Parts: sequence; C-alpha cells; structure tokens
Amino acid sequence: MKTKKLNSTSSTDMVAAANMLNKGGVVAVPTETVYGLAANAADEDALSKIFEAKGRPANHPLIVHIADASHLTHWARDIPPQAYQLAEAFWPGPLTLLLNKQPHISSIITGGLDTIGLRNPAHPVMLELLHLTQLAVAAPSANPYKKLSPTTADQVFETLAGKIDAVLDGGPCEVGIESTILDLSSEQPTVLRPGPITASQIANVLGTPVAVPENHDVAVPGNVEAHYQPSKPMLLLSTEQLKDQLANRSDGTVCVYYSAELKDLMTDEDEVMSADKVAYAQSLYHTLYQMDQSAAQCIWLELPPSTDEWRDVHDRLNRAGSRLI
Ligand code: TXA
Ligand code: MG
Repeated sequence: MKTKKLNSTSSTDMVAAANMLNKGGVVAVPTETVYGLAANAADEDALSKIFEAKGRPANHPLIVHIADASHLTHWARDIPPQAYQLAEAFWPGPLTLLLNKQPHISSIITGGLDTIGLRNPAHPVMLELLHLTQLAVAAPSANPYKKLSPTTADQVFETLAGKIDAVLDGGPCEVGIESTILDLSSEQPTVLRPGPITASQIANVLGTPVAVPENHDVAVPGNVEAHYQPSKPMLLLSTEQLKDQLANRSDGTVCVYYSAELKDLMTDEDEVMSADKVAYAQSLYHTLYQMDQSAAQCIWLELPPSTDEWRDVHDRLNRAGSRLI
C-alpha cells in the first residue's frame, strides 16, 4: 500500500482524509497529545486494519474520539454526572473517560471489556475531521506496538509508511504526552494512566478524592511495563547520579538533562531539556526519537522532579528506561 502524505493546510487534502475515513481507510491524524491512527469506530473491518498496522494484540482496547459530549450516550450507558462535569471542565482536551459501554459497541474497540474509553480531542484539525466525516473515530497512538508515540507527521511516516492509507500533517503536537485515562465505570474515580490533566485538577472539579494506584487491579492492557520504548538502552538517573556517572562515560553515550548546574559538564551532542514541565513533555518523545536515529548507543537521562505535576512524564520514563539501582 502506498501511504499518501496529506497536509491539513490544504482543504483538498482535508477532504481526501475525510473520504478515506468514510470509506474504511486508516489515516494517521494529529491530536493535541500525540498522533493517532484513526479509523471509523463503527466499521469493524476498518478497526481491524488499525491492529494490523500497529502489530497490536487484539485485547488492547481503542479510545474513541468524539466531536463533543453530546455523543457520550451513543457509546456509553449509566453515565455518572461526574462525566459531564469533567467534560465541561476539560473537553476538548487530553482527558479520556472510561465508562460502561453500550451493548451494541463492537468488542474490537473494547478488547472484550465492558468499558469504553471516550475523549473529545482539542486539536482543530482532528475536530474538523470529525465534523467533515460526521464519524466518531477510534485512534490509538500512531506507533508500532510498544514503540514511542509520535508527535510529528514525519515520525509516523518513517515508522508506518506502506501500512496505512495516509498521514495527515497537522504540525507538531502541542502536549506531547498521551491523555490522562480516568475510570468512571465504578464508584471510585481512578486514574489508570497519568496524563496532562492531573489527579488534583480532576479532584478539584469533582470535589472528591481521585485514586491514582501505582499498580492497577483494573486491567489497562496497554499498561504493560515495557512500553513507549526507544530502541536503545536508556538509564534513568538522579541529578547526583548523573554527575557521578559522567566520569565513566564512554563515546556512544548521550545525556538528556535539564538542570542548569549540569550544563558545563555536557557536550554539544547532549540534549538539554526545558525545566518547565509543559515544554519538557512537549519535546520528550521527539527528543528520544531523534536519539534513536542518531549514532548514540545508550542514553543517560536525568530524572525530572517527582512532584504531582510531573507524574505523567515519570510514568512514561519508567516504562521506557531502567534505573541505576
Ligand atoms: O492521547 C491519547 O490518548 C492518544 C491520542 C491519539 O488520542 N491515544 C492513545 O491511545 O494513547 P492508545 O491506544 O495508544 O492508548 C490507550 C490506552 C491503552 O493502554 C489501552 O489499553 C487503554 O488506553 N484503554 C483503552 N480503552 C480501555 C478500556 N475500555 N479499559 C481499559 N483500558 C483501556
Ligand atoms: Mg499508545
């Protein structure tokens, strides 16, 4: 299959992308978090093409992207008032709500589970596509199974060309980390995947505490430990550990750091990140992807602060790397 490159600044290309989705194709699309691999959520053949292109196991459910909260009732039942409070506060935006699914929903989407993940994305290109197609689209991150999620159209093209109908370029993703997943299918609201909307932001809106378990008894099939992986070994180090290790550094090692105090110890090949959480998250996957493409043999990464704000970054880093001790 020849993968077309489409650009969201062209209205012809936008219509072409919409037509492909309407005809059961798979198109990589920009969202505010990461690029997604989109297909018509009501078309089982189209959905199975997503799994094929990603090499993703069939029991990993897909998030369905909807145009606004009025579509919730089509996909979910027994919707608690909290869902609407959170939609009001954070949609369109990087928050996925897990709700009990309507009986007619294909088990291809839910991986055989009784719940469905729904989100109203904030990217104008994605919203325009939902409007043009009049569809809801299922979309996992547009990476091969277990690899880094892409934040640019080029990265999608480089890893999935030949396997999907098109890549729609909408520029680099602003947020850079996948949405927060909040389980609202039972009494206790529970964060199953930390993300850009923090547990305390959610708790503030709901006026009740939100659970953020380290280990889940509710299965999130995509929460396998080794996930979001660069193809090179990555060691996660505290600032002090990184300083100490630098004496033993060999040629193929590149450092990814953010502390100003380390600057004088680093070389031009090393990558300096922002100390601001939002800017750090935005460039994280892209930086790691570039390191994958470089001659580096291993990555030493300075762990950012372990405050609530950085929880999503820590979650992804812990899956992508290993610790010194
Ligand atoms: O920001 C995002 O959420 C991006 C963009 C493209 O929207 N999407 C994304 O999808 O990260 P994906 O499939 O790469 O990750 C979704 C995670 C997976 O780990 C999946 O197993 C889990 O959500 N998930 C989806 N539906 C679920 C459900 N009903 N129950 C439990 N886990 C679910
Ligand atoms: Mg993913």
